[in-house]
Amino acid sequence: MALEIIILAAGKGKRMHSALPKVLHKVANKPMLQHVIETANALSPKSINVVVGHMGQMVEQMLDTLPEDLKKLIKVVYQNEQLGTGHAVNCAMPNIDEQSDVLVLYGDTPLTPVDLLKDLVNQLGQKALCVLSAITDKPTGYGRIVRNGDFLKAIVEEKDASAEEKKITEINTGIVVGKASFFKKYLQKLTNNNAQGEYYLTDLAGLIAKDSPKDVGITIAPDFEILSGVNSKVQLAFVERLFQKRAANQLLEQGVTLADPNRIDIRGNLTCGEDVFIDINCIFEGDVTLGNNVVISAGCVIKNCSIGDGSVISPYTIMEDSQIKQRATIGPFARLRPGNVLEDEVHVGNFVECKKAHLGVGTKAGHLSYLGDATIGKDVNIGAGTITCNYDGANKFKTVIGDDVFIGSDSQLVAPVTVNNGVTIAAGTTVTKHIKMSDGALVLTRSKEVIKENYQRPHKKK
Ligand code: UD1
Ligand code: CA
Repeated sequence: MALEIIILAAGKGKRMHSALPKVLHKVANKPMLQHVIETANALSPKSINVVVGHMGQMVEQMLDTLPEDLKKLIKVVYQNEQLGTGHAVNCAMPNIDEQSDVLVLYGDTPLTPVDLLKDLVNQLGQKALCVLSAITDKPTGYGRIVRNGDFLKAIVEEKDASAEEKKITEINTGIVVGKASFFKKYLQKLTNNNAQGEYYLTDLAGLIAKDSPKDVGITIAPDFEILSGVNSKVQLAFVERLFQKRAANQLLEQGVTLADPNRIDIRGNLTCGEDVFIDINCIFEGDVTLGNNVVISAGCVIKNCSIGDGSVISPYTIMEDSQIKQRATIGPFARLRPGNVLEDEVHVGNFVECKKAHLGVGTKAGHLSYLGDATIGKDVNIGAGTITCNYDGANKFKTVIGDDVFIGSDSQLVAPVTVNNGVTIAAGTTVTKHIKMSDGALVLTRSKEVIKENYQRPHKKK
């Protein structure tokens, strides 16, 4: 049986108090809706129908950033007025084949495990509809599952529930699977005769059950928290923490040592080798790969980087789009902007900024430098305060430094410039392309010293 998925994402999310449509709020730096779409895709559906409405164009812009293979599956449906979840599903029904099974997911429930959905779809069998429920001692805000013995009688929304019904601890997760033919027939029967004046999707279950109770199945999810919907910033923060807890646990299970699993944030894919240690308060974004025996110290922010075996990143280092090879030592307080390649055993120390810099094996820049648009050979010593002057106000130029070069402190390399192999640059030198040097030369530019004896410093008038 072909499976078609409808994702509801048209609501404004009033309770978020935000100009951004709710489903674009991010969990682990990824829009909630994207989490749901990726989960949907893992079920190999025939189609994914995203119902948009409030600021729908903005939601479409996000959909446009998704990979092509995903985009091929997605059909966008507009619900111009948000008349309720039942109405939203109905807007998508013309896209759905009469013979298909239909799975409805909510764009504000981002952490639903794929396996749970697979089980739910499998349990549909010959039934018309199967709803996913969960048990919680904090059911406030959720629709309640009202049972008649083993059968479902109705789903009652919080705002419509009697005091008795509010005590029910079995809640509606919102996730439901059913046969398209039943959806098509019963969606027509919904009314908006309720506290919110909306066409509730949840009424579908009650309507079908009324005609034939055994046609509606209920699957109780083993874990309520993971199915939490996000209606407010409080719930968004809760779901974010839940996501991070899961991600940290996965790392621990793979053998990564975390100083504190509650103080790490993974906003992308972190791949780790053996015996990796990560100290507290580190943030990983995009695709980050850490080799064996890598140490990431406290407070590092690492985005789209690969770090080779045995490298040690000292505290408060920030790096992006860079490749660090083996046994490098970086930081504390180093900043790697995009486009660097640091070869084996490179050392980049405190307050060193690199951008599009290639540092050869064993090269060291220990302190207070800017190395931009630079190709630097092996075993080079970059003295404290060395600056590659790569920008003339309009254009960027390259600095090329050979092997075994020693650059004294507080030197400037005015690009475009090339420093030959084995050259020594004396401290305080300004190197420009006009200096003709050969390999192994000493380069020194210093103004002549002037001494005035018994110099009287100006004094402030008292
Ligand atoms: C809904 C369920 C409730 C369930 C809870 C689980 C209904 C009537 N209630 O309540 O039983 O316990 O989810 O989290 O379904 N949306 C549209 N168009 C609309 C209205 C909503 O696309 O006209 C979308 C929203 O963008 C959201 C989702 O549907 O992604 C759910 O809507 P929301 O208003 O958050 O429903 P809840 O009150 O949370
Ligand atoms: Ca909700």
